[in-house]
Amino acid sequence: MNKRDVRSMIACAALGVASWCGAQTASDKTEDIWLSTLDVSRIEQGWGQGRSNRTVDNRRMTIAGKSFEQGIGTHANSIIPLKVDGKAVKISGCVGLDDETGGRGSIIFSVKADGKEIWNSGTMKPQTPAKVFSLDIKGVKTLDLVVSDAGDGYDYDHADWADLKITMLSGAKPTLDMPEIEEPYILTPKPKPTPRINGTKVFGVRPGSPFFFRIAATGDRPMTFSADGLPEGLTLDAKTGQISGKLTKEGEYKVMLHARNALGEAEREFKIVCGPTIGLTPAMGWNSWNCFASAVTAEDIKAAADAMVESGLIDHGWMYINIDDYWMVHRNSDDPSLQGPHRDQDGKILPNPRFPDMPGLTDYVHDLGLRIGLYSSPGPWSCGGCVTSFRYEEQDATQYAEWGFDYLKYDWCSYNKGLEEHRDDLSWDPNSGGNITYANNSYTLEDHQRPYVIMQKALAKQPRDIIYSLCQYGTADVWKWGPDVGGNSWRTTQDINDSWGSMSGIGFRQDGLEAYAGPGHFNDPDMLVIGKVGWGPQLRDSRLTPNEQYTHISLWSLLASPLLIGCDMTQLDDFTLSLLTNDEVIEVNQDPLGRQASRVALDGQLEVWAKEMEDGSKAVGLFNRANREATVTVKWSDLGIEGQQVVRDLWRQEDLGNFENKFEAKVGRHGVVLVKISPKK
Ligand code: GAL
Repeated sequence: MNKRDVRSMIACAALGVASWCGAQTASDKTEDIWLSTLDVSRIEQGWGQGRSNRTVDNRRMTIAGKSFEQGIGTHANSIIPLKVDGKAVKISGCVGLDDETGGRGSIIFSVKADGKEIWNSGTMKPQTPAKVFSLDIKGVKTLDLVVSDAGDGYDYDHADWADLKITMLSGAKPTLDMPEIEEPYILTPKPKPTPRINGTKVFGVRPGSPFFFRIAATGDRPMTFSADGLPEGLTLDAKTGQISGKLTKEGEYKVMLHARNALGEAEREFKIVCGPTIGLTPAMGWNSWNCFASAVTAEDIKAAADAMVESGLIDHGWMYINIDDYWMVHRNSDDPSLQGPHRDQDGKILPNPRFPDMPGLTDYVHDLGLRIGLYSSPGPWSCGGCVTSFRYEEQDATQYAEWGFDYLKYDWCSYNKGLEEHRDDLSWDPNSGGNITYANNSYTLEDHQRPYVIMQKALAKQPRDIIYSLCQYGTADVWKWGPDVGGNSWRTTQDINDSWGSMSGIGFRQDGLEAYAGPGHFNDPDMLVIGKVGWGPQLRDSRLTPNEQYTHISLWSLLASPLLIGCDMTQLDDFTLSLLTNDEVIEVNQDPLGRQASRVALDGQLEVWAKEMEDGSKAVGLFNRANREATVTVKWSDLGIEGQQVVRDLWRQEDLGNFENKFEAKVGRHGVVLVKISPKK
């Protein structure tokens, strides 16, 4: 008996089940197998990923105060599908809601044998003692170990199958009955050689701010650009398609853009709205966090900008190159490239040695026709421990504008309301008491808003438009007040990662927030996790399967979410590029109405989401969250439409025909069919 087995026996003995749980049933015909020896990282679950011998949050499993060494940590709703081919005798374990949820969540565990439920735990809440099961499964071919959310949504449903063990005939092994993963497949047609104008159709600018917009167009080069009706104050560079200048008067200006090459000409309406609101459509660009994280350097930023141009992404409307955390000096890192004075003698923030020339960097990015962003926090330190803006908000905003930045992600991190009591007492060191933690429920709405209002005011004073991206993980229903504090977007969730549970858990949870999105202010379910990601410096291919990646981009487009590519731009493969260059899919995200899709139908794990488009059509996603291919149906009654409708497959850019009353499609495991449904003319 090894050390683990002994501890496990102790845990289960305390529950009064030592006779079977953790004890070795020495028999020459059967053998006990811990199910945690299987790779459960890809099982289906509502959040995070399955883990062996750890909780879903990667901690030691603990149920009502009892710890377990062995088992599988998962999250509702989840299924562990097992194949045992009639060679199993018994399955046993102890289940419960993990203590790491801090008193939240409720779940039901059940075991199905050949599709029929043979055991059910009943509802398990925080502090419900672990429940023990031991089931005779002789002759059974398949087992499903299921955790459901007990009917109240799956927030905080961290589920432990502790001491999970199967007794098999000697020599036989259980396997996970997982479907095969599809190979990457490209649906996006290659851009045509004739000109096509892409990207946003509406652009906001404040009076007096520098105007900076490059027309995005695909097609053979050389290409020349022209524009009818450009308002006074703006000029267009015919060679690059760069529109620049300044508008002084508020108003809406309708412009007709033209792009011409040897093979033809394209034109498209473009509306310039000069007024207080910027960011009229969701930001499209790249951010350094999901690939480089704390390893980011100015060279990475330049390389990302170069790749944005060379890969052709710029021709599809991708615009921002955003530096996340770690451009500033770190409070106590051993890494010399993160060390240095925090601010100069006048209090001006200083970048770390990896970013020796901020104006040079912003010029570099602007000269390519792109815009550039950076990151800070209202507290004294960023989430990674670098210098941020508490007490220096206005000075920092001025510095960002002077350097030439166009976008600010403002991340709550070390902020807490206790800092404010000492804001004016400059002899008080924020690090001496700045980390006092206050219970969440002691924060008033004003406490949540205060730091964002301070920076809003500071940004408003700048002679430059800076997109304001709030990041406080969706606390205090930020969607209800994000626009009031000037947010062009606000994160609605904790950080995403490249697992199905994380991406789909976040994405499909956005239902209900659609009322809060609109031109200039969007919900932000976090950045994209396709391509080579890894939170630096080691990168890997996204763990999302090809179908899951189609779901990710389709859902984020329907949600009118900011689209911030999170991968290494210098390692874009053809598949990743195809996901980011489908102009008909991008048009769903960038539609000028700025509506966010909502769920219009739900049938088990099949979901239909629809978004109203400016041209009167609906963009509709038919999603299959299940582990097997399924037919998903959208009924016209769910969309509030009737009669003959033309259905167009947006990924393939192909009309599928006319349909009446409904449209249905076969959708692969974790996949999507994204269509546009328009009345037949
Ligand atoms: C987190 C934020 C991430 C990233 C990180 C940097 O709070 O949600 O997106 O910005 O901080 O430290």
